[in-house]
Amino acid sequence: MRLIPVLTLLLLPLPAAAEPVSARQQELREFVAQDCGSCHGMTRKGGLGAPLTADSLQDIGDEALAATILDGRPGTPMPPWRGLLTESEALWIVRHLKGENP
Ligand code: HEC
Repeated sequence: MRLIPVLTLLLLPLPAAAEPVSARQQELREFVAQDCGSCHGMTRKGGLGAPLTADSLQDIGDEALAATILDGRPGTPMPPWRGLLTESEALWIVRHLKGENP
């Protein structure tokens, strides 16, 4: 089940450095709900993974969170997503999780 969205993302060209375009933003929203939701919960209140709600993340820097998303946490189930996501997309997801973009 979870492979399908990942494969879809692999087939799509990744935009370069700038803010992801709006079609890609919609894909990222679905990606977060499905692929991150499988461990962090569909409402991101936590599960196998830590809660990813705006409240729980507000004191952690955007760059540090983006680094966790890109490189994972070795020794924990949090996998690295580099290769599926660019750095600007990881930062966009961080701001999305923090409720700073819709
Ligand atoms: C296979 C399960 C799994 C999946 C899938 C997963 N995570 Fe995680 N994630 C974890 C675990 C477990 C932790 C806690 C690691 C630790 O103990 O430090 C974590 C930690 C994190 C953290 C750090 C939270 C903090 O409070 O420091 C962020 C941010 C994060 N994940 C984002 C994501 C995003 C975004 C996705 C989707 C692209 C994702 N995770 C998918 C298991 C997962």
